[in-house]
Amino acid sequence: MADLFPVGGPVPAEDVVDRAEFIEQVVTRLLDRHSVVLSAPRRLGKSSVAYEILRLLREEEDCYTAAVDLSTVSTVRDLAERLIAMTIASVAPGVRTALTARQGLGKLIRMPEVRAKMHDLELSFSLRPGEEQRPDELLDEAFSLPERVASREGRRFVILLDEFQSAAAIGGPALLAKMRGTFQVQRHTAFLFLGSQAGTIAQIFGNSSKPFFRFATMLDLPPVPDEAWRTYMRRRLAERRIAIDDAAIDAILAYTGGHPYDTMLVAYEAHLLARRSRQIDTKIVGAAYMEAEAHLNSIFEAELDALGSRGRVLLGRLARSEPLYADERASGTVDRALRDLVRQGVIRRIARGRYEFVEPMLARHMLG
Ligand SMILES: Nc1ncnc2c1ncn2[C@@H]1O[C@H](COP(=O)(O)OP(=O)(O)OP(=O)(O)O)[C@@H](O)[C@H]1O
Ligand SMILES: [Mg+2]
Repeated sequence: MADLFPVGGPVPAEDVVDRAEFIEQVVTRLLDRHSVVLSAPRRLGKSSVAYEILRLLREEEDCYTAAVDLSTVSTVRDLAERLIAMTIASVAPGVRTALTARQGLGKLIRMPEVRAKMHDLELSFSLRPGEEQRPDELLDEAFSLPERVASREGRRFVILLDEFQSAAAIGGPALLAKMRGTFQVQRHTAFLFLGSQAGTIAQIFGNSSKPFFRFATMLDLPPVPDEAWRTYMRRRLAERRIAIDDAAIDAILAYTGGHPYDTMLVAYEAHLLARRSRQIDTKIVGAAYMEAEAHLNSIFEAELDALGSRGRVLLGRLARSEPLYADERASGTVDRALRDLVRQGVIRRIARGRYEFVEPMLARHMLG
């Protein structure tokens, strides 16, 4: 039986609640070779959506795909090697196991199925030890390989670059400039960029002095409607022969505000508490919320530490519905701090001078 209410990384297709329309829209754009930037705060479901998009592109559109999570890449060489390996894996699916076994690139391209598939693509980089290419040459190779494959076969290639805000830390402005320079002339390859720091991503793609200015269409991940959560929770719990009443579902959504990760977490805890009674009511939801809060405690504290004391003070005021501008003379400082919190994806602006928490459970944590 599939996992119930999975939490953590990207979730399987059947647990991606209510993203079908959005996913279809992005698939269409990518097939039309419009690159897309999807930026949203942490744990709202970017990667889940993106991996489902790649799956549909492969299965329904016969398109090649490759994905690299830039937050796990340390150097330019590492980025190049991973992109080449992922490109090869997409074209010659038999090599997937070799990839998960973390075989080096050299071994990978000597595999017979890779040779058969890539023979006329002229993998020009040297992979003999001691004869290594310079990292930037290898990167040129990595950036042009998907396009060469796709154009040879009259297919398309879609490349997912997750946690794209890490690009600057890997290779600085030079890497961003090289990416833009290479990507923009490609005719068979489109890119899906994900980022969790809306501010950094907007800077990379929306600042006219930066190389990625207007390279890709920026999309926001829409909220998951309550009705979609209701249907999903009822269906999943019914499969486990657990009943849930409407008031209990409302209570979960009131606690989490429909935040995807938090909703999954509270629903999961509620099901654990109802394993004997087979019935989730508002009392169980209250207890489940406390469990979830306890799990999130240290995550929230780490996030608050990273925001510094001014951010924490403002979040406290916002959580208690107190005026944000307590000291008139410091309004400029408050403005800046609020902008930072928006950029960091902790709060969102809903009207002039009015903000709300992206994650309602963090607001309750501030009160606790
Ligand atoms: N559409 C969804 N339906 C149900 N649960 C979701 C959905 N999107 C996200 N989740 C929940 O949130 C968790 C995190 O999702 P995911 O890793 O896709 O988010 P993310 O935005 O990429 O997060 P991060 O910023 O940490 O990379 C999932 O494991 C799942 O529990
Ligand atoms: Mg992610």
